[in-house]
Amino acid sequence: MQGCAYVDGQFVAPEDAKISIFDWGFLHSDATYDVAHVWQGRFFRLGDHLDRFFASMQRLRLDPGKSRGEVRAIAHECVRRAGLREAYVEVLCTRGQPAPGSRDPRTCRNNFMAFAIPFVWIADPDKQRRGIDLVVSDVQRIGAASVDPRIKNYHWLDMVQALFQAYERGGETALLVDAAGNVAEGPGFNVFAVVGGTLVTPEAGVLEGISRRTVIEMAGAAGLPVRIEPLPVATLRAADEVFLSSTGGGVIAVSHLDGVAVGGRAAGEFGPVTRRLQEAYWALHDDPRLNEAVVYA
Ligand SMILES: Cc1ncc(COP(=O)(O)O)c(C=O)c1O
Repeated sequence: MQGCAYVDGQFVAPEDAKISIFDWGFLHSDATYDVAHVWQGRFFRLGDHLDRFFASMQRLRLDPGKSRGEVRAIAHECVRRAGLREAYVEVLCTRGQPAPGSRDPRTCRNNFMAFAIPFVWIADPDKQRRGIDLVVSDVQRIGAASVDPRIKNYHWLDMVQALFQAYERGGETALLVDAAGNVAEGPGFNVFAVVGGTLVTPEAGVLEGISRRTVIEMAGAAGLPVRIEPLPVATLRAADEVFLSSTGGGVIAVSHLDGVAVGGRAAGEFGPVTRRLQEAYWALHDDPRLNEAVVYA
């Protein structure tokens, strides 16, 4: 695989990016991470991703042993060395290994890592042109009182089981609900419904996605009302339009929900709000306030 990783203080090829199986990041999912993308040689909203990464580490009492400036420089250097114009860039911090014979997390030396690999899409561009088939899973998203979803985390057992269920039902990805039956999120994305011209997205129990924030800001600029509130699955089913937001593809139209065409549209025909926000999302990748160039030379 093309790419570059940073592990144990060294830049290495992806196949040499390895950690100990005794790291609690692996044994206990005791870790946090963030993912930014590089598009046409520029990082999109890297500063916002770094803010979220440092907030997540603080909440989990993790110390990467690196300043924000150092993490930013390492992310840039991974992309530069990989020579990728379009990239998926992950920074992560794991708990590390406790002192021999100890189970005390305070004895762990935390590990910071990073990597840049070719762009990873939630749905590849061809699938995006058709719109995605979303399945509402019976699997509940892990409760926010147990794992704070604002911390970007690897507690994905629920997500992966929901994905298997979605595939079995002929879908392409899964939507998880909360204990009250309201929409939560899915593997790698937030969810929006367009109801009578108003955007509705769940308020709680979700990662505060950078793409979700971008959508909310774009809607504000376009004069589209946004409501951030509990979103019942029934409201989603009755919506005029449904779309996903993710660093792995931006604004992604949902064509079918449990096999039923959203808004009664034919596959490949998206609603006007989704289309407008999709265009605005990629146009923002030329805005110098939100983008920073990778220096490849
Ligand atoms: C669980 C979850 N929700 C939402 C998102 C979307 O967040 P962002 O827009 O910052 O990529 C992600 C991204 O990977 C995610 O893992």
